[in-house]
Amino acid sequence: TDLAHFVSGLPKAELHLHIEGSLEPEQMFELARRNRIAIPFASVEELRGAYSFSRLQDFLDIYYQGADVLRTEEDFRDLALAYFRRAAADSVVHAEIFFDPQTHTDRGIPFQVVADGLLAGMQEAERDLDVTSRLILCFLRHLDEDAAFETLAAAEPWLDRIAAVGLDSSEVGHPPSKFRRVFDRAGEMGLLRVAHAGEEGPPAYVHEALDLLHIDRLDHGNRALEDRALTTRLARSGMTLTVCPLSNLKLCVVEDIDAHPIERMLRLGLRATVNSDDPAYFGGYVNDNYRALIPAGRLDAHDFATLARNSFLGSFLDDVAVTRHI
Ligand code: HPA
Ligand code: ZN
Repeated sequence: TDLAHFVSGLPKAELHLHIEGSLEPEQMFELARRNRIAIPFASVEELRGAYSFSRLQDFLDIYYQGADVLRTEEDFRDLALAYFRRAAADSVVHAEIFFDPQTHTDRGIPFQVVADGLLAGMQEAERDLDVTSRLILCFLRHLDEDAAFETLAAAEPWLDRIAAVGLDSSEVGHPPSKFRRVFDRAGEMGLLRVAHAGEEGPPAYVHEALDLLHIDRLDHGNRALEDRALTTRLARSGMTLTVCPLSNLKLCVVEDIDAHPIERMLRLGLRATVNSDDPAYFGGYVNDNYRALIPAGRLDAHDFATLARNSFLGSFLDDVAVTRHI
């Protein structure tokens, strides 16, 4: 349709993308072969068939397992570059990508291998595809705060190339308060701060992310809508929400894509953005996420332009660069 065509061509930034979640089954098999690793699936089709989730944890179990094929700097570079090629095809001109260093360091892959590999892919993407990017180091919230401090220490030589820290993995039972001190430290080191909150966790976790972690951006935030005062606070402060429609559908955060709350978020004055989260696992890159919102019929071209503009306003680009994009 005309609207789908318009939406697909809108220049956009992607602000919620786990690079490990962009590992497509085909690339997983290729890296397994290259690194001589056995994977417990006979084919790409069988692996894709296992991507059926009823909650966040179902997904995380298979996502951490998939990451095991990533071993060398070249693997991380190839992973990043494959994502940027897909993103560029979706009119993404800027991406702020999450990585989970602990998923790799805990299985003996040095932080240096992960960071330098990803940074090489990012540099090539900027040179060859004209897609700019930033790196966000996520702490795994199911691990303890000491482990997060160790990760922050390991990252010190790369801090000039890391824009922010984030918080991801199993939300319920691992509230933001658990990471208050390490987020304070990251702030003192000059890093920006983001956190996943209100995906499966209650509105109280969003309050904690604001009050204790001093976040600059809220990842997901769906359940903030259950709390009116919180919703108003987010709207008044101009907080950006990085919303992930197909992820929400696949992880059963929403029951039906046509019932996705993004339209309500916009009407409530929230600065919502559209993102792919883990595109290889959730059935689509950023344009698939934008287009999935069309059939409900509640968003028009102006709304989609607002969502795309929000992605630049909520990015960590400087004002001059944002002005060039909007
Ligand atoms: N939520 C929490 N942790 C994650 C996600 C997510 O959507 N994707 C990758 N790690
Ligand atoms: Zn996420």
